[in-house]
Amino acid sequence: MKSKLFKIIRALFLLVLGMFLGKFLFSSPEVDTVPIPSTMKYRKVGISEDTTRLAQNQAFDGKIIEVKKGGSIQAAVNEAKPGDLIRVFPGTYSENVYVDKDNISLQGVVINGDWPTLDGKKEINDAFLYSGNGILIENFKIVNYKGNGVMGQAGNNFVIRNNWIIDTGVYGIFPQYGKNGLIEHNVLSVIADAAIYVGMCDNVDVLHNEVFDSVAGIEIENSRHCLVENNYAHDNTGGLLAFVTPGLPIKTTFDVILRNNFVVNNNHENFGAPGSTVAGIPPGTGILIMAADDVIIENNIITGNNNSGITIVDLPTGAPSAKDPNSEPNPDRVIILDNIMYENGNDPTGELKAIMLTQMDTKGPDIFAYGGGTGSTIRDKNRYRTFGLDHYGPAQITDTRDITTFTMDAPVPPRSVSKEELGELTYYGVCAGCHAFGNRLIGPPTEILQAIHNGNPQGIVDYINNPKNLREDYPEMPPQDYLADDAKMAVAEYILNMKE
Ligand code: HEC
Repeated sequence: MKSKLFKIIRALFLLVLGMFLGKFLFSSPEVDTVPIPSTMKYRKVGISEDTTRLAQNQAFDGKIIEVKKGGSIQAAVNEAKPGDLIRVFPGTYSENVYVDKDNISLQGVVINGDWPTLDGKKEINDAFLYSGNGILIENFKIVNYKGNGVMGQAGNNFVIRNNWIIDTGVYGIFPQYGKNGLIEHNVLSVIADAAIYVGMCDNVDVLHNEVFDSVAGIEIENSRHCLVENNYAHDNTGGLLAFVTPGLPIKTTFDVILRNNFVVNNNHENFGAPGSTVAGIPPGTGILIMAADDVIIENNIITGNNNSGITIVDLPTGAPSAKDPNSEPNPDRVIILDNIMYENGNDPTGELKAIMLTQMDTKGPDIFAYGGGTGSTIRDKNRYRTFGLDHYGPAQITDTRDITTFTMDAPVPPRSVSKEELGELTYYGVCAGCHAFGNRLIGPPTEILQAIHNGNPQGIVDYINNPKNLREDYPEMPPQDYLADDAKMAVAEYILNMKE
């Protein structure tokens, strides 16, 4: 009996030893068989039972291009054709990756906790810039850029998920002018403007992200049909924001649901660039609604925000220097359902503090509403300490559980761009992040650029190819030399002809 058992154990031991030695001696040190996660096999954003909402009806049939340590992601993008998957292995890549084709997937391969890392070394402006449709960017660590971690320009059907984005300058994840997108499971910190900035977009879900130590956590700006759910926004200047920035071609923000988020201790000092919209956010802002309509705030845990838990203001209050007669300035039909709110307003600042003092109150409220706006409602005002909600009627709904996503169940067609539209698109897709017609954003107002370069589009092209820091009170403008030559001239002419 005993010797039989011994033989079995010895055989097993030799087998395991053989497997170990075989692997050690005969396999290549390169890991080349890391499986493709199943969700990658499908190329479409849309409703499904899958929590990532990727639908199951389109099998992956592109080519797989691998980028290994020492290689170039941009070279792989240049080689790729629509439908291809680029897999990037662990290593440090100091690049600006520009993706101007459709249906390209960029996927980091994480091995034993080693991530592929894009490091801008505080010299490179952007990590990923895409203008294609159907772009997927996942599993990357992105650090030390000067401009943006991931920026999209007019690309539809995008998925950006499972990335770490730390100290990448102005924005972390910034899809601009895109429709039908998903931003989920990302972790972002130390971003000087918005960690996640959904700008001039439609139908975007922002789910399960952590944003902290930034000026604005998650910002829904001049965008419609957005679901912000299950995120953890903490230790920013402002946690979650839905607002209208005047002077942009899309004039409205509406149909936004802020649901099931943790909005905690957003008391960070404001380190936004002077003149940017977010530079005006008072530290201690949990949720900010400015001039946005039909926003529903439901089932969030909002605590420890020292100015106030929820602030709802119109444009004259929140952005007094803005002048855009085409932006309707009031937050209308805001609905506040049940939220857990406590320990907010412990150390109010600025205007809110002054207003509360007129009420003989040294604390900020859970909910603060100021300025115009009609049709707003609240489910149970008595649950909170409020200011300015006298005109809020009782909410007509109890929850939003019927709405599970704002993404579409099929990819939307790409925006068609004629030559004539190129200038407009480039302006709103690229320049408008920093320039607005009548007011100062990160850069000077476009009407000033017009006056300086009147009749001289080449002067603008020369400047954007090689910008110089001309103004003491503005940061340096990042070079836009990656743009195609026809786009540069088109945008220069577009700027000089702008009327608004
Ligand atoms: C990341 C922010 C940012 C983006 C994007 C940006 N700019 Fe700027 N731009 C600035 C800043 C900041 C300045 C002021 C720089 C200074 O004066 O030192 C500026 C200044 C300018 C000027 C003034 C030059 C002068 O002669 O005084 C022009 C022209 C200009 N930008 C054009 C553009 C165009 C065209 C685009 C889009 C293709 C663009 N910018 C995109 C931030 C940006």
